[in-house]
Amino acid sequence: MSNVESVSRKQYQRSLAYLAYGSSTSSKAPIMEDSEPALIAKGKGCRVWDLDGNEYIDFRNGLGPVTLGYAVEEINQAISEQLKCGIVFGHPHPLEGEVAEGLVNAIPCAERVRFLKTGGEAVAACVKIARNATGRNKILNCGYNGWLNTLSLSANCPQGIALSQPSNGVPPEVSALHVSLPWGDIDPWKDYFEHNGKDVAAVVIASSYPDIELGKVFLPALRKLTQEYGVLMIMDEIVTGFRLAIGGAHEYFDFMPDMAVFSKGMANGMPISAYLGKGDLIDSAKSLGISSTFGGETLSLAAMKAVLQFYREKDVIKHLWDTGRSFMQRVNTLFEKYGMAASIEGFPVCPAFQFKDPAAVLPFYGACYRNGLSLYCVPYVNYSHKEADIAEAAERMERALKELTNGQ
Ligand SMILES: Cc1ncc(COP(=O)(O)O)c(C=O)c1O
Repeated sequence: MSNVESVSRKQYQRSLAYLAYGSSTSSKAPIMEDSEPALIAKGKGCRVWDLDGNEYIDFRNGLGPVTLGYAVEEINQAISEQLKCGIVFGHPHPLEGEVAEGLVNAIPCAERVRFLKTGGEAVAACVKIARNATGRNKILNCGYNGWLNTLSLSANCPQGIALSQPSNGVPPEVSALHVSLPWGDIDPWKDYFEHNGKDVAAVVIASSYPDIELGKVFLPALRKLTQEYGVLMIMDEIVTGFRLAIGGAHEYFDFMPDMAVFSKGMANGMPISAYLGKGDLIDSAKSLGISSTFGGETLSLAAMKAVLQFYREKDVIKHLWDTGRSFMQRVNTLFEKYGMAASIEGFPVCPAFQFKDPAAVLPFYGACYRNGLSLYCVPYVNYSHKEADIAEAAERMERALKELTNGQ
């Protein structure tokens, strides 16, 4: 485990002079000095090792993208083969069209596809397309859709961003166009649409993890409402894609958005995102100037092609549901046994910890780190977590809970 004297911590401290905040991803920066690994050096399967060589069973999974496991042979092989032939070219590579075809075949709302590098960028592309297609400017959003959420004064942001001043640097004229509304209850949306529906270009919806089952009624109802008002629906499947189902929440809950964005999960950690949906909408991207040099970068495309094949051959989705269910059951049983006022809720493929006492959160995570368990507010399982790993993770968590309750 990391502590102020560890190699990890010392090297991290040194990086602060050069790397702002010590991490380019706000939610990855270590916040617990005495127990959290400051720097992760490598991963294999469902485990990671910090720079001091301490091993952790990992449920952070790169904050979502690692759905198969770290350094998975088949995906590494696909990347290395492509690496021998070059990374990025001045014309399209055959993989770009091939992988797009794979996504059109795998994702219900996908008629056409285009690639970018990050989730937030893909959301921004859809927002521009929607504004152009509808001739309207307002965007409603739900949940976290990337750091451009900071355009809305009321947006949901992960802790790493919310603890800062995310609305600084946004002109009021811009933030007036971005409004956030809650998950699960259609009434505030109906109310907003009644008064402002004709100004809204699109809704951008990321599912809420602890109460995701509300999507069964909420999402189709929102789809209907958007159609009544001529508003486009953009599903943010960045976490739900390749987890609930390959096609994410819109496949799982069986409705059809106009566009959707995918990223985490598509290439087992390689950096790539896709915006996809109705052909005429995605086709308009070119005329709107949406373009990026690295959109067709081939190592990520080769990884994605191998990931799609891996999902089909090994029924990854079923494994994630089964293993996640086992993890949730064990965690909730342990919380009850040790009188922890907390639970883990939602769907097993992307569940969320819920703590009654916010002051209990960091001590719990800290004790888990000290016992070789790396958790996140959404503790993801990947395909490499087998039942024995889940049992071992539960043993480590039990040691952590004993430590907390005995004050050791
Ligand atoms: C649901 C969801 N949408 C969008 C994003 C933004 O993706 P990125 O960080 O790649 O821009 C995230 C990232 O955590 C996310 O969880």
